[in-house]
Amino acid sequence: MSSVAEKLAPEAIKKLIPYQSARRIGGAGRIWLNANELEQPIDYVAGQGQYHRYPDFMPSEVAKAYQSYSEIKSPVLAVRGADEAIDLLIRTFCQPGKDNIVVCTPTYAMYEFCAEALSVATLPVPLLGDEFELNVEGVISAAKVANVVFLCSPNNPTGNVLARKDIERILEATRDDTLVVVDEAYIEFDWQQSVADLVLDYPNLVVIRTLSKAFGLASVRCGFIIADDSVMNYVMKLIPPYPMPDSSSEIVLKALSEQGIAQMREATHQLIARRDWFAEQVTGFAWIETVYASATNFVLLRTKPGIKLFDYLLSHGIVTRDQGHELALANCVRITIGSQASMQDVLEAMNNYSVSNTNEHNESKGIVK
Ligand SMILES: Cc1ncc(COP(=O)(O)O)c(C=O)c1O
Repeated sequence: MSSVAEKLAPEAIKKLIPYQSARRIGGAGRIWLNANELEQPIDYVAGQGQYHRYPDFMPSEVAKAYQSYSEIKSPVLAVRGADEAIDLLIRTFCQPGKDNIVVCTPTYAMYEFCAEALSVATLPVPLLGDEFELNVEGVISAAKVANVVFLCSPNNPTGNVLARKDIERILEATRDDTLVVVDEAYIEFDWQQSVADLVLDYPNLVVIRTLSKAFGLASVRCGFIIADDSVMNYVMKLIPPYPMPDSSSEIVLKALSEQGIAQMREATHQLIARRDWFAEQVTGFAWIETVYASATNFVLLRTKPGIKLFDYLLSHGIVTRDQGHELALANCVRITIGSQASMQDVLEAMNNYSVSNTNEHNESKGIVK
């Protein structure tokens, strides 16, 4: 006999495959480079120690601090991570079973997952070529039957920035009919590329951000929605009654202080240098086909067919992200840039792989200690 839950669960939920987050996949390893977190923590301690009252219904101090850090003139709303922003935007602006969203694949899988959970259909418009550029005309055409277009820039997992002129063309064409959400989770790694300033010109643009990446606060769960008041008024109807724990707000305010921002900038600066060094090193392996340019804290590698880099690294305790399940990313592995020691470890393992595969031998420089 079927359980009550079995009887009641909607078909869409029964069919739903849970989002495969790095934590859900789990596994065993000694070096974790699979979730684009900051590997070296910046230590923050929550402040007050009194948590008996509900928090602010809208963490306005946090939003104000973020506005000041990012020099944004448009309204800012703090939420529990960029993931909550994605879910809120779809729930606010799409009707289940009727409306559509557009995504530019390969991209962050949560857009499609959140839509599917709400019986909102996803229209994929693949990114073009080896540079993963926007198919502007394709997006504009699909947007005619969609309520929300999701663009991710810099894009996860490809690592590239989407051209501002392409985003502007899409915004112009969709100005009166479709919301365009630009997910800037990795923007601190290429700050000049932000399109957040365009919110003032295009009320149909929504930018989402997070403190989980460059700020190294993934476990605090803090993200932001930057949007015109006309959008914000509707999002605010659905925001949970107490959207952010005080303990999180306290830590966020420290991270967004002058000292916190300076620390983040220094760590980002070092991480970018380490990423570029790592990318140059791995370019030397004969069995690597492509090292994609990255404007993020990770690097996407494509190996030659038959090379099981993800499995190999895992067998050496190094957990990365296998992207090969997507057709456009066959033989691709995404590696988060961790500490210098971790990246040396990865290079050493890859070097040993080259040596043990003598017919695919590393013909160039190997690793530099
Ligand atoms: C593109 C993108 N957007 C959003 C998120 C989720 O961020 P948050 O931790 O703020 O929910 C991630 C996390 O990996 C991401 O890669």
